Amino acid sequence: MIQSNLPYDYDALEPYVSEKTLKFHYDKHHKGYVDKLNKLIVGTEYADLSLEELISRARGEAKIDILNNAQQAWNHAFLWESMAASGEMSPDGRIKELIEHSFGDVATFKERFRTAALTLFGSGWVWLVQDGDELRILPTGNADSPVGTHLTPLLVLDVWEHAYYLDYQNERARYVDAFLNKLINWKFAASNLREVRASKAA
Ligand code: FE2
Repeated sequence: MIQSNLPYDYDALEPYVSEKTLKFHYDKHHKGYVDKLNKLIVGTEYADLSLEELISRARGEAKIDILNNAQQAWNHAFLWESMAASGEMSPDGRIKELIEHSFGDVATFKERFRTAALTLFGSGWVWLVQDGDELRILPTGNADSPVGTHLTPLLVLDVWEHAYYLDYQNERARYVDAFLNKLINWKFAASNLREVRASKAA
């Protein structure tokens, strides 16, 4: 049985994400995916797996319905942790250095992330991921997720309309700007970084 959890109150991200939006998003969407997933796996060999194991197995076996609902369950749990209205407003330490190494500076990272979020057609997610000693911005369509791949997710933005329509209607840009400038939990993103072993000179 997979559980869902919202790590803060429904009004914790006000005024950038309203209590009404967060209630709908968590109660109707996130929990909806988790409930559907539990119905799909009950009594099957998937029933006792962790969410990550379940995603890897469903991906390998092309169980698309299980995979989609499991990824949406994982992506939403990761989304809640990626945001905090009282979070760090800017990256520092190692994650800042990696952003500067990969994008030049924090402003350029934000601009590229913004463009990726605004040009993603339809529903999906925009991720900051670690790929070895590089950071990359990764847009994924619908339920797709880098979890269980060689990429390490650091933070994510949900660009499905259900994430922002009540607060921003069709103005995805205002929602993306609020995320980039007011909501990112940089402490969480930094906590996901993996150590990279320096390659030895030949
Ligand atoms: Fe969502």
